[in-house]
Amino acid sequence: MGNKGLSSITKKLIMAITGGAMVFFLLFHASMNLVAIIKPEGYNKICEFLGANWYALVATVGLAALMVVHLVYAFILSLQNYRARGKQRYAVVEKQEGVSWASKNMLVIGMIVLVGLVVHLINFWAKMQLPEVLHKLGFEVNKAVLDNATNGVHYIVNTFSCWWYSVIYLVWLFFLWLHLDHGIASVMQSIGWSNHVWQKRIECIGKIFAILIVLMFASVVIYYWLIVPPVA
Ligand code: HEM
Repeated sequence: MGNKGLSSITKKLIMAITGGAMVFFLLFHASMNLVAIIKPEGYNKICEFLGANWYALVATVGLAALMVVHLVYAFILSLQNYRARGKQRYAVVEKQEGVSWASKNMLVIGMIVLVGLVVHLINFWAKMQLPEVLHKLGFEVNKAVLDNATNGVHYIVNTFSCWWYSVIYLVWLFFLWLHLDHGIASVMQSIGWSNHVWQKRIECIGKIFAILIVLMFASVVIYYWLIVPPVA
């Protein structure tokens, strides 16, 4: 490791802090989405509250910044690891004990999660917060789009009453689970919450949170796909 720029540990810490903050967002987003099952009118009230208000916009910009930093350092660290392996990368390959497939493929899995996120933002954010912001900035926005800008349930019904969208979302959530299953434990390890005694427990806590987050999201998809009949 050269001493140009940030050390490896600092880079890992940056990945952990940005990743950890996004896990908090996911916990918040997933639990909020459950309201769409329990009380759909309540969900739309939350969407109204979180629309294009200044605090929601600050959160959106902050979230986008976290994601960009996480992505940039993911590439920097992966490139560094690739270079460090040198010739060895052609020689391998016995299976390393205790190293999961997900942990070796975090960059690729993360990119798949990102592609799914772009689709998701086109499905929801581009029809909700974005038109509201554009309208506030004085741009012309279609009235029907603006009228539905805080109607999250409308877009949930629209999206998940289409079977192939539901399948795409469930596949996306599977990759999110792979990413979080390794990612959450790594966050705790990188910020120093792990040692020999706690190693297994940290991995277990990471697995529980990964499953919890993904199941909360998936329950909304399954509920609106298979349980609630499509509404016009
Ligand atoms: C599958 C169930 C999900 C549903 C029903 C859902 C619903 C929504 C809705 C309604 C919005 C628009 C909020 C607005 O613009 O006012 C939104 C935005 C967003 N969603 Fe999701 N979401 C789901 C899963 C996910 C997942 C798995 C992720 C991340 C991996 C995610 C990340 C985001 C992000 C980053 C935004 C933009 C947030 C912002 O504007 O600050 N969502 N989602």
